Amino acid sequence: MHKIIAATQIASDVRWLKIDAPLVARACQAGQFVIVRLDDNGERIPLTIAGTDPARGCIDLVIKAIGKTTIALCQLGAGDLIRDVAGPLGKPTEIVAGKHAAVVGGGVGAAVILPIAAALKQASSRVIALTGGHTRDAVLLEIELSRVCDRVIACTDDGSYGFSGTVADCLRDLIAGGDRLDIVYTAGPVPMMRAIAELTRPHAIRTIASLNPIMVDGTGMCGGCRVSVGGQVRFACVDGPEFDAHAVDFGELSERLSAYRSQEQLALRRWNDEHGRLCTRP
Ligand SMILES: Cc1cc2nc3c(=O)[nH]c(=O)nc-3n(C[C@H](O)[C@H](O)[C@H](O)COP(=O)(O)OP(=O)(O)OC[C@H]3O[C@@H](n4cnc5c(N)ncnc54)[C@H](O)[C@@H]3O)c2cc1C
Ligand code: FES
Repeated sequence: MHKIIAATQIASDVRWLKIDAPLVARACQAGQFVIVRLDDNGERIPLTIAGTDPARGCIDLVIKAIGKTTIALCQLGAGDLIRDVAGPLGKPTEIVAGKHAAVVGGGVGAAVILPIAAALKQASSRVIALTGGHTRDAVLLEIELSRVCDRVIACTDDGSYGFSGTVADCLRDLIAGGDRLDIVYTAGPVPMMRAIAELTRPHAIRTIASLNPIMVDGTGMCGGCRVSVGGQVRFACVDGPEFDAHAVDFGELSERLSAYRSQEQLALRRWNDEHGRLCTRP
């Protein structure tokens, strides 16, 4: 059992949980994730380790409520317990030293780029962060990113805050403006990561995407997280979750992510019925 030490609502549908998980906190590196099971009957879902405090034995999870398990997790508070937190899983991010890097996050992808940005800075790279959302409420972790980056640009699709446009529009402007970039790291919705990859490809800027396929066991055994990279089958849980964005088959990733939509909607309807219709999404 893992105790929730603190819980903060950081957007209307996003919650930040600080969880007691000393072994994970001690071993974790940027880019890694945990597989969480809320209770004995719960499904296993992967969540990025957004931060660690090895001295206190805590890890940070930033969770967007989109379906049955994430909605249930987002309703927990300090003192509540989570059944299993397995990890750290996945390969750590490859961190470049002394380079010019951009970290680009869409929505809750900001939770993925935060520890990467901190590790890049630690390795004396210059780091620009782009964090974006549809509206101002959906722009996440701007303050936390500004503590570890040289520059942070918040982007909103509706122009209500910061740069007016998507993170891809902003990155396009940075490149067109002659900003030197040796490497780009990106995490967020699949169409966004694909747009970033297509932007950097003609400039031959190395681009690494943190993929978010459906995962089950997180050990390379079930095949649920199969992705195609450069025409090869890879398992995101053990070979990734980060891959060369210019080689990823994003179309296949999108299709596989929606394969169980009707079952997910049914599970959410049942959960809502049992819990008094606490949420109507998705
Ligand atoms: C390596 C990795 C790190 C992630 N980190 C974060 C994070 O830090 N914060 C966060 O909010 N989300 C993160 N996710 C996504 C998160 O796992 C899904 O939102 C969650 O599994 C959805 O479960 P649900 O029951 O709430 O929704 P469901 O109704 O089950 O699913 C809604 C949608 O979520 C996706 N999904 C469903 N099950 C899984 C699964 N087991 N694994 C991955 N995607 C799934 C599908 O696209 C699905 O259509 C991460 C995913 C991966 C692969
Ligand atoms: S989650 Fe089962 S193989 Fe990756």
